Order: sequence, then C-alpha cells, then structure tokens
Amino acid sequence: MRDTLRVGFVGTGGIARGQHMPGWIGLPNTEITAVCDVSEEAAAKGAEVAGVDKGHIYSDYEKMLDKEDLDIVDVCTPNSYHMPPTVAALEAGCHVIVEKPVATSADEVRQMIAARDKSQKLLCVVQNMRFSDEAIAAKQIVEEGGIGDPYWAKAEYLRARGVPAWGAFIVKELSAGGPCYDIGVHVLDLALHLMGFPEPVSVSAGTWLEISNKPSVMQHDPKRYTVPEELAAGFVRFENGACVSLAASWALNAPGNQNQVAVYGTRGGVQMFPFTYVKEEHDVMFNCTPQVFGKKGLGGHAEEIRRFVDAVTGRGPVPVPPEQALITQRILDGIYRSAEEGAEVEV
Ligand SMILES: NC(=O)c1ccc[n+]([C@@H]2O[C@H](COP(=O)([O-])OP(=O)(O)OC[C@H]3O[C@@H](n4cnc5c(N)ncnc54)[C@H](O)[C@@H]3O)[C@@H](O)[C@H]2O)c1
Repeated sequence: MRDTLRVGFVGTGGIARGQHMPGWIGLPNTEITAVCDVSEEAAAKGAEVAGVDKGHIYSDYEKMLDKEDLDIVDVCTPNSYHMPPTVAALEAGCHVIVEKPVATSADEVRQMIAARDKSQKLLCVVQNMRFSDEAIAAKQIVEEGGIGDPYWAKAEYLRARGVPAWGAFIVKELSAGGPCYDIGVHVLDLALHLMGFPEPVSVSAGTWLEISNKPSVMQHDPKRYTVPEELAAGFVRFENGACVSLAASWALNAPGNQNQVAVYGTRGGVQMFPFTYVKEEHDVMFNCTPQVFGKKGLGGHAEEIRRFVDAVTGRGPVPVPPEQALITQRILDGIYRSAEEGAEVEV
C-alpha cells in the first residue's frame, strides 16, 4: 500500500466541501488528487477547497476512475446518485465512502454490497452523528451493560420550520424522499447503533404534507421545487421484542425544533440531547449529567473519515458497514410503503 492514499471525489457540493474535504485534508496520510462533479462550477469550487490541479477535474466519474490511480472514492452526490458511482468505483478497485442515506431502496444497497464483496474492497456509509463525543460515550455505556437490555428507543428530528429552500433535498428525482431520508436517517441510525442493530420485523407509519405549501411556512420556490412530504412518523418492531418510535419533520406546528435519540433499557437509559445517562443501582435511580468531556474524537465527519482510513490501512473495522445501512434502508422503505398502504408492513 502507498504511504499516501489517493482520494477522488464524486460530487463536490455543500457537504463535500464543508465537511468531507476538511476531514481528508486534516489527515496525514491521505491526499485528494481528483474531483468530479456534473456542475462545472461545483467541480471548480471543490478543486479549490481540496487543492486539486485543473488537470484532475472531471465531469464524468467513469473518466476519472479510468484516468486516475485512486485508492479511495468519496461519493457526495444527491441520494438518487449514490449507487451508480459507488458500484463503478468498487469495480475500478477503489475503497468507497458514501453519504447518507446510503441509497434510495434496499435493492440498491444490496447491489452496493454485492459490488463490495466482488471487489474485495471496503465500503463505508457516512453516519456522522455516531461520532460525536457524546455518541461515542453513549455507545460505550450501552456496550458495557450500563442500561441493561434496550427495549424502546425514541428517534426524533423535528424541525418546526425548516423546509429546505433549495437544492437536491426537495427535488424528488434527486432526493427520493423528504425529511425521513434527509434527517430521520441520522436519528434512526444512531438509535439502532446504540441498540446494537436488532433485526427489524415490521413498520407502521404515516407521512403528511399539510402546511409546507402555505405562504406563511413556505421557504422554497413552488415553481421549481415540490415538497415530497414534510413529516414522517412511524413505529418499528424488532425480532427481539424491542421497538423504535421515529419521527422526522421539515415543518410542524411545534414549539421549536425538537431533536432526540433516547434508548431505554432494563437497567438504565441514555438520552442524547442533552446527553444524559440514567441508571438504577441499589433500587435508586441516578441521573448522571456529564460535566466535562475528555475529548475522544474529531467529531462527526472528520472522525468517521479518520476511522475509515484506519479500516483501509488494516488498523480497525469499517466504522459504518453497509449491512447496517441496509437495515436502516429497509425500515425507511417500510415507512414509505406503510404510509402508502395505510397499514403495518413487514420489512
Ligand atoms: N451527513 C450529513 O450531515 C449531510 C449533510 C448534508 C447532505 N448530506 C448528503 O450528502 C449528499 C449531497 O448533499 P449536498 O448537500 O452536498 O448536495 P449538493 O447539491 O450541495 O451537492 C451535490 C453535488 O453532486 C453533484 N452531482 C449530481 N450528480 C452527479 C453525478 N452523477 N456525478 C458527479 N456529481 C454529481 C451536483 O452537481 C452537486 O454539486 C446527499 O446525499 C445528502 O443527503 C449529508
């Protein structure tokens, strides 16, 4: 293996430039050597942030994969375009890290896993919420048995007013879904991560579009964008008897934004916002609120990218394996299917 790993980007929009590139640049043993974006402007901006020469800017990822000798490809395209470049990069012999939601259907995720297996390379999904210091501590508490057996979790990412006003999030052909894919996937993934990814059995859910198109709520240009849904809420059952209650909104008549990931078990519970650990000992329930954090990681994207490089260089596991993202995707598929059918569905 080379001393310095060569990284190529597919998609150099907001998240690539704002979070991924600084993450790679901060590492000693990686170098962004090529960028690709269908938008000339986004590609040029990405190349500037990453310090990539003009000769290594592409508008077609197949060409980039063909011409560049890359070790890793970082896929930051809109949701509907995660699968094709991921599969192409794996087939070209690269390790791949791809943004959330991993894809737009469980079938797509299975194709990505099959390509990963065939290539013998690594595939990692970005779920940056797992890598905050709080989430790392919560995971350790749960793994050490600090909450006993988890049996119920609440995963909520509720914006009172926050329909995206631009971009790929509200173009259904690009996003494939609304707040469930955009932000619900973050809290669902974190809840499942803390619970140890139990096997899901069924989902009962609804989706709503009631208020986003009122002038008082609307932030988007209705001639250009169509909101797929503004709220998705559901209840997920797992094989081990555990359940998760999930809700994600871009617009809701609620007193402000409400984010929560809380996992409750037989001996205690962890709640992420704000981070609190409740435990029962000697018939007394203690409420442990952290005072000071010893810094564990770089936080979010940068920490996940660092861990992915560790995996590529044989120093650790893939931080978010696609098998876990497949479980999340099956639940998201189930939410939309259940809402459409108006009934509980098997996942
Ligand atoms: N983890 C997070 O916190 C987080 C935050 C924001 C976005 N995201 C995810 O990141 C992805 C990108 O979001 P964004 O906000 O950067 O969107 P964006 O619209 O700013 O950027 C996407 C870029 O991909 C380019 N693109 C589209 N199709 C392409 C193709 N076939 N080949 C090459 N480039 C192509 C577009 O031109 C655009 O520049 C989405 O999947 C989104 O869900 C994650």
